[in-house]
Amino acid sequence: KRVAILISGGGSNMVALAESMVGDHPARPVLVLSNVPGAGGLARAQAMGIPTAVVDHRPFGKDRAAFETALQAALERADPDILCLAGFMRVLTEGFVTAWAGRMLNIHPSLLPKYRGLDTHARAIAAGDTQAGCSVHEVTAELDGGPILGQARVPILQGDTAETLAARVLPMEHLLYPAVLRRFAEGDKSPVLLP
Ligand code: GRF
Repeated sequence: KRVAILISGGGSNMVALAESMVGDHPARPVLVLSNVPGAGGLARAQAMGIPTAVVDHRPFGKDRAAFETALQAALERADPDILCLAGFMRVLTEGFVTAWAGRMLNIHPSLLPKYRGLDTHARAIAAGDTQAGCSVHEVTAELDGGPILGQARVPILQGDTAETLAARVLPMEHLLYPAVLRRFAEGDKSPVLLP
């Protein structure tokens, strides 16, 4: 399977995914694409020998469809079977999501369906939750709403801030996403639950 990874920032999840696709793994990374020129993950992908592309969303203004047309063209050149959104911070239209239905994954830093959207760790702490974590799901038109393919849980500790909690969740993302991608690439949609 050919995997394209979409990023907007540092790409730590992209690195974890790319490093996992070795040996007898059924998938290989064929492209790392960012909507942000100069995103840190682009240099990390290049250092790993993975082709990269940039489709800057800013010239398109509010015209999401035009941005996604350019995005689709860049993706088609790499001909991926699976898209992995990994710290990709653009909301995709229903049209794009439908075109990739069943072939597009995302990682979200909360125990979905709780805390869709942004500032997930601060919200979990404010709510007095005792657990937090991350979820990998199939992308559908509903933001952070598709079928769950995996979850990883961590405790919320006394005195946690959004930063200390994020630092506890992120390493679990780097375990969860590769585990889910491997199963997904093998056609297995049974959920991965960590620890
Ligand atoms: C992570 O918290 C991830 O859950 C979210 O984006 C953040 C940064 O990810 N999707 P990365 O380091 O760019 O992979």
